[in-house]
Amino acid sequence: MIELLAFPGMEKLAGAIAAKISCDAHSVNLHHFPDGETLITIPSLPEGAEVAIVATLRTPDQLALPLRFAAETARELGAPKVGLIAPYLAYMRHDKRFSPGQAVSAPLFADFLSDSFDWLITVDPHLHRIGALSEVFKIPSSRISTAPLIANWISSNVPEAIVLGPDSESQQWVAEVARLANKPYEVLEKQRSGDRSVKISVPEKPELLTRQPVILDDIASSGRTMVEAIRRLRDMQAKAPIGVLIHAIFAGDAYADILTAGAKQIVTTDTIPHESNAISVAGQITEAIGSIRRSA
Ligand code: R5P
Repeated sequence: MIELLAFPGMEKLAGAIAAKISCDAHSVNLHHFPDGETLITIPSLPEGAEVAIVATLRTPDQLALPLRFAAETARELGAPKVGLIAPYLAYMRHDKRFSPGQAVSAPLFADFLSDSFDWLITVDPHLHRIGALSEVFKIPSSRISTAPLIANWISSNVPEAIVLGPDSESQQWVAEVARLANKPYEVLEKQRSGDRSVKISVPEKPELLTRQPVILDDIASSGRTMVEAIRRLRDMQAKAPIGVLIHAIFAGDAYADILTAGAKQIVTTDTIPHESNAISVAGQITEAIGSIRRSA
């Protein structure tokens, strides 16, 4: 028996997963005190039930302690195992010391979560120099790929698509999605000189003008990558691009900025709740729960 505990905002995805595996999904209550502390309250659970906490880590620093407190409280109240379903997993890009004295956050954050949970399911983490989650997580982990879902969405909705990755790091997603959707793809060149300072160059390819550009990236944070890619494509008279993002982070005004830059449409998966969610990962998470529970 497993019970799902949804952190605030994750009730819809948790409910969809619970419906597929015929279990209950409950809400975790977080009360924020004026001094910045948080009181976590979990619902009463059937005796002996395992627990999976559903929390997406869009604001990881705010969620880290509440996550640990919720996991430890569930354990203290009798849950023999506590898993974490974190559809968006933060900090995995911080996999290297770029300047002296910097923290290498990816393994540190992985240790923090490994100390609190028995297993982890996540969706397309941004692994660059880390080859597999098992290199940094001490607990069993499952890495869901959204490529089949995104390829299916493109095949059904954009028959004349050309799939574009805005930078070399997006190659891993773009090549696979294009292969599954049987569409051409290109990877653009990006130079980043600051958090909000990005330059994109687009190759001169006739297909970019005749087909429907679909820019695919794992996240939009400041949104500058997507904005600059859209601007360069519009400069060369390409059709208004469709943006497909796995994780709808959209810091600040990023979503509005991308639409204003000339995106025809922005589509995201539901790893982070957002009005642009159009592709659900609930089915894949449900499958992953079965196999990870057998291995944990
Ligand atoms: C980088 O490799 C990522 O895949 C994204 O392209 C990047 O993080 C987007 O960031 P921003 O929206 O701030 O340009």
